[in-house]
Amino acid sequence: DKANYRHFMAKEIHEQPEVVGHTLARYVDMATERVSIPVDLPFDFREIKRVSIIACGTANYAGYIGKYWLERLGRLAVEIDIASEFRYREAPLGEGDLAIFISQSGETADTLAALRYAKQHGLHTLSIVNVTTSTIARESETMLQTLAGPEIGVASTKAFTCQLMVLATLAIAAGKMRGELSEEDEARLVHGLIEVPRLMSEALATEPQIDRLAREIAKSRDVLYLGRGTSYPLALEGALKLKEISYIHAEGYAAGELKHGPIALIDENMPVVVIAPYDRVFEKTVSNMQEVAARGGNIILMTDAKGAAEAAVEPLETIIMPDMAATFAALVYAVPVQLLAYHTAVVMGTDVDQPRNLAKSVTVE
Ligand code: M6R
Repeated sequence: DKANYRHFMAKEIHEQPEVVGHTLARYVDMATERVSIPVDLPFDFREIKRVSIIACGTANYAGYIGKYWLERLGRLAVEIDIASEFRYREAPLGEGDLAIFISQSGETADTLAALRYAKQHGLHTLSIVNVTTSTIARESETMLQTLAGPEIGVASTKAFTCQLMVLATLAIAAGKMRGELSEEDEARLVHGLIEVPRLMSEALATEPQIDRLAREIAKSRDVLYLGRGTSYPLALEGALKLKEISYIHAEGYAAGELKHGPIALIDENMPVVVIAPYDRVFEKTVSNMQEVAARGGNIILMTDAKGAAEAAVEPLETIIMPDMAATFAALVYAVPVQLLAYHTAVVMGTDVDQPRNLAKSVTVE
């Protein structure tokens, strides 16, 4: 049931501090601040030459963020692929390498077909799924559960952030096993993850501001989302979320790609959502914002207090996120991204939980 919420999507967005916390508790030892993966992994991360992450839609964007973490913390070579492309590309696959499949439902036809393909090619298969009785869960060699609880809204929200949480802990585990992270690194990173549920609750407090902003966004024909680092896949997710429930055209871009084409679209009618925690690439994002501002684009900046002070542009609106360790910021910045799509759809009067032409679980290829 929807409790006191108008839509399942709203309820599921608000449940995130709790379910992301449950998921975290499954994969770390809170007392010692160590990662503890609750199953025996049938492979050794030191022997993996390449990881392929395969999923569809929002789960694919979670995987894309996971790629950045596994590369940086685990020093692993990671490719991210769309399930419907993976199988037909005839990519060379190394026997004994690892393929990770991410799916809320565990029944997505393309992801399942890609899993079977990976098994045929001798890859280790690990799935991150929300429904543990699903086909993908059953057919993969290793299954890591997200503890999001049932997700009813067609637009994935809490499943996404729980997928991120599992990927974050897996990346720390990989870094540890490969000797890339010390015990101190591990404790610092796990500590950062333990903060996430509280930070997500703080991020939810931006809702009244985002609700007002949504009335402006609802007047737009197109919206651009920009980000660098893990904020880039989050920009892709923001654009997907907005288009699938509000039917407003949106695109996500790596901020650095702006000047290679999409900048031509920018005028005073084009809101540009910039996702930019104050991190090592912040300065670079600032120059991209200046490019937008110089062409009259309306910037909606999602950043922290430090970022707001250093932004050097006059955004239409700044949404201030809590200060946090930058590595896992995507988990927290997902919240305003989801709220913006949600409130815009509510203003537009669409069927938020059951958007047109879409199914919760896509069981055809
Ligand atoms: O059940 P899955 O996670 O495998 O579903 C994958 C996509 O169909 C799903 O994430 C879709 O993109 C959502 N509607 C996005 O909100």
